[in-house]
Amino acid sequence: MDPNTRPDSMARITTPELAKAFIDEQLTAIRSQVGDGKVLLALSGGVDSSVCAALISKAIGKQLTCVHVNHGLLRKGEPEQVCRVFTEEFDVNLVYVDAVDRFLDALAGVSDPETKRKIIGGIFIDVFAEEAKKLEGIRFLGQGTIYPDILESKDGIKAHHNVGGLPEDMKDFELVEPVKLLYKDEVRVVGKELGLPDAMVYRQPFPGPGLGVRCVGAITRDRLEAVRESDAILREEFAKAGLEGKVWQYFTVVPDFRSTGIKNGRRTFDWPCVIRAINTTDVVEVTVEHLSPELIDRLVQRITTEVPGINRVLFDYTPKPPATVEWE
Ligand code: XMP
Repeated sequence: MDPNTRPDSMARITTPELAKAFIDEQLTAIRSQVGDGKVLLALSGGVDSSVCAALISKAIGKQLTCVHVNHGLLRKGEPEQVCRVFTEEFDVNLVYVDAVDRFLDALAGVSDPETKRKIIGGIFIDVFAEEAKKLEGIRFLGQGTIYPDILESKDGIKAHHNVGGLPEDMKDFELVEPVKLLYKDEVRVVGKELGLPDAMVYRQPFPGPGLGVRCVGAITRDRLEAVRESDAILREEFAKAGLEGKVWQYFTVVPDFRSTGIKNGRRTFDWPCVIRAINTTDVVEVTVEHLSPELIDRLVQRITTEVPGINRVLFDYTPKPPATVEWE
């Protein structure tokens, strides 16, 4: 039987009981695969890698080392949350790498979206490989591959994430992929059963290049902060309005052009902040979430007063197609 094909007989994991049975099965499978070997895992804080880390850690404890790379393009509070949850609640060996300057220096002046993605992906792999070299005797690589990743790489839609990009000296690592036959909703049920916080389990999708593709054009530190701060306000207001977990993806974008405004009686020449909130089932076609006038007013008020450098708020009400979800 192909280990990368989900058997027809496999029940959909929809309840805590089914999740518990899956977890028990995987703990045995991981222990028998790894023995007394050591596993390394790149922990982004996304649902898939977090559930994978929690499972492997439960199976083999300190034989697992997670590496969390802060590329400076994460959302407000994210690196702190990953470190707190995995060191305090899961007692995982966690290596936190502050690579903010390295990423932002390499990205300075680069405005082409695909070049930005390549730089971010390339440095990420370099940083991860450097950390792997520092740790002795690692033979296994944990990965939060999920079933849609396998289906999409089979269909040639997407290169199998991570593996294609691994440096030569890491290609001999054996993969440990405990959630590779699960769909996203099942991964969330398993994550909940493992005791991960709701903020991680029900986290909205977040692109690998992070806020980097929402700081349109060449990234500057001040405009990146404007993206991060406005995103934090948007998430807070969506949570207060009861929209958290109900809207597929919502975020802010700060393009690299300015318009005039007035603040405290003085002329300003600042950036606009664009708000985008969308719903979808497959990310191929996307509809727009229509916001209440009260929520719109509050977002405009808070973002223009609390975020330095922003003097105007725009709403992107364009479906996909013709627009993509992200601006870059
Ligand atoms: P687009 O913009 O292509 O986005 O309509 C579809 C979904 O994919 C996410 N996205 C990415 N995810 N790396 C990722 O891991 C990327 O480079 C990337 N670009 C877009 C986007 O957030 C949306 O959920």
